[in-house]
Parts: sequence; C-alpha cells; structure tokens
Amino acid sequence: MKLEDITVEVASEKHLAYVDQILKAIEDAAQVRGTGIARRKPEYLAQKICEAKAVIALYKDRFAGFSYIETWEHKRYVTTSGLIVHPDFRGLSLAKKIKDLTFSLARTRWPNAKIFSLTSGAAVMVMNTQLGYKPVTFAELTNDEAFWKGCEGCINVDILKRTDRKYCICTGMLFDPEEHLPAKIPQEVLDRIAKLDHDEEING
Ligand SMILES: CC(C)(COP(=O)(O)OP(=O)(O)OC[C@H]1O[C@@H](n2cnc3c(N)ncnc32)[C@H](O)[C@@H]1OP(=O)(O)O)[C@@H](O)C(=O)NCCC(=O)NCCS
Repeated sequence: MKLEDITVEVASEKHLAYVDQILKAIEDAAQVRGTGIARRKPEYLAQKICEAKAVIALYKDRFAGFSYIETWEHKRYVTTSGLIVHPDFRGLSLAKKIKDLTFSLARTRWPNAKIFSLTSGAAVMVMNTQLGYKPVTFAELTNDEAFWKGCEGCINVDILKRTDRKYCICTGMLFDPEEHLPAKIPQEVLDRIAKLDHDEEING
C-alpha cells in the first residue's frame, strides 16, 4: 500500500459513521503506549467533524487516520489534537500528511492565532519542529480552563495539579505566527487595527 492510495481530507457529516472507530483507535494506542491522553466523547468528535475542524484519512472505505483542531481563549490559540494513525497504515508518512492539513486548516482559518501542542509523542515533536513550533514552558500556553480540563482524564493529571499547572509529562510546543513575519508590528498599531476592524464590523 502507498501513501497516494490514502485520501486525506477535511471531514464532513458523511464521516460521522467513523467516530466510534476513531475513538477506539485512540484508546487502543494509549493502552499500548501506557501513556495518558485527554479522553474525548463521541459527541465531541462529531461536533469537530460537523464544524470542519477535523481531518480524516481513508483507504477506500477503511479508517486510516484522524486529527482535529480547536480554538481557545477567544480564538487567540489553536491546538491540533487527537492525532491517530491506525497501526495498519503507520510508517507511510500518513501522520505527517494529516498534520500538514490540520496545520494549514488552522493557519487559514485563524491566521493570527498561536498554535500549540501538548504532547508526549516523539513523532509529534518531530513534526511540530519541522513546522516551526518551539518547545515552551506551560506559562506560554493558553490559560483557558476548558483546555486544561481536557487533561482531567489523563493518568498523569496528579502531576499537573501538584505543580500548579507548571509542569507535567507532556512537552508544550508553540508556533507563534508573529515570529514568522519579517518585521514586527508594534502593539499600539495592532490595537488601532483591532479597533478599526471592530468599528467596521459594527458599522458594516
Ligand atoms: C504517532 C503516529 C501518529 C505516527 O504515525 P505515522 O503515520 O506512522 O507517522 P509518519 O510516518 O507520518 O511519521 C512522521 C514523522 O514522525 C517520525 N516518527 C514516526 N513515529 C515515530 C516514533 N515512534 N518515534 C520517533 N519519531 C517517529 C517519522 O520518522 C517522521 O519524521 P520524518 O519526516 O523526519 O521522517 C502513530 O504512530 C500513532 O497513531 N501512534 C499512536 C497515537 C499517538 O501516539 N499519537 C500522538 C499523540 S501525542
């Protein structure tokens, strides 16, 4: 089987039938790795699929891989999460293809948002680095309670709580779009632009 035989696309309603398989694949992989993961409910993944925030990989009709994106703190931050490639399709660069699409989707949809990742997976760290993410302390990630609530289902959450959310097993990595611009726009100009955009939105 070749990578070219697998379709990788932004998921839509027609892919809702795969939700249970996706959750099972994530669960099985966590068992094998013996690591913690943020557990997700079927309704949560279904919502991501309907909101065009998920990417699915299929080989003919077979589920091959998945990942989704989510915004935090009034769209100031974005994460790509839940990356999974079914064991039958690993080692083909499929995770990279899925990651490239979730990253492009996030950059296109929220171009000013910082993209971050909280991961213990070596493959994810490799791919993040290739895309321009840098390792950061947890203080540089979002303060959004809803994001950190996702860690509650992880077996390591006691460490996160014990350290007052400063450290845990996972590594925080951040892609800051500003760092990838050739010049820096001063904060007062950004504030002025935000006000102009806001006024324009109100006045039409
Ligand atoms: C991690 C996972 C998504 C990788 O899927 P894959 O399709 O086999 O990965 P790819 O072939 O696209 O590899 C992407 C990159 O990661 C590297 N990589 C893959 N598996 C790796 C591993 N176990 N350790 C270190 N690097 C790894 C590859 O070498 C490649 O880098 P390169 O482009 O420099 O060669 C897959 O093994 C999986 O689903 N694992 C279980 C769930 C999981 O761990 N998800 C990550 C959540 S943190």
